[in-house]
Amino acid sequence: MPDNPITIAIDGPSGSGKSSVSKEVARRLGLAYLDTGAMYRALTWWCLDRGIDLTDAEAVSWAAQGFPLQISTDPDRPTVQVDGRDISADIRTTDISEQVFHVATNLGVRASLRDQQRQVIAHARRDGAGIVVEGRDITTVIAPDAEHRVLLTASEQARLARRARELFETDDAGAIEATRAQVVGRDAADSTVSAFFEPAPGVVGIDTSELTFAQSVAAVLDTVAAGAAPY
Ligand code: DC
Repeated sequence: MPDNPITIAIDGPSGSGKSSVSKEVARRLGLAYLDTGAMYRALTWWCLDRGIDLTDAEAVSWAAQGFPLQISTDPDRPTVQVDGRDISADIRTTDISEQVFHVATNLGVRASLRDQQRQVIAHARRDGAGIVVEGRDITTVIAPDAEHRVLLTASEQARLARRARELFETDDAGAIEATRAQVVGRDAADSTVSAFFEPAPGVVGIDTSELTFAQSVAAVLDTVAAGAAPY
């Protein structure tokens, strides 16, 4: 067992840069990586594939319990499979992005996925150097005792522009407006079940609005280095 396994918990709203930054931090520190949003997306995909009505909270909560999910924690290949089928690309479609809030705001689902996420964390700490876990409730609910807890934020304008560039390869006014419902609407729905706009006590807030990708990665690495336990 490694001497000092660490968990780095990273939360933030859509477009804060959390996924790309978290993956890079994991690579640089030789840690595993868990994208918890991908788990909510995969369950959404699975329910739609099975013809389960996403507004039927009980059926969706039930599905979360017997859901044959395999998620890779390799930051270079963070694949998602259900029942042996690779759905890594399928879970990134606009359709899934627009419907995932039904699943993410289901409290029964959150309880099941919480347990699964904690198992992945425990496994990574037992068998390796630790893990970077990203989501909306990692610093507060899933791993409040993580060695390092960070909330990445960014202004609404910066978040819309980033998501527009991802989706449409431009951040002109039309692309920003087309992105608004997805980013702002989804965050509004998600923030009814987790608080991810303000850092909780003890969580380091990093505003990435004016930072490049490299600067955002450096800011998280600096936070980790500054908080490293002396030994
Ligand atoms: O980060 P993302 O867009 O892939 O997240 C997908 C959805 O899951 C989004 O609606 C937020 C939600 N989510 C959540 O509620 N809790 C998490 N820990 C991670 C994601």
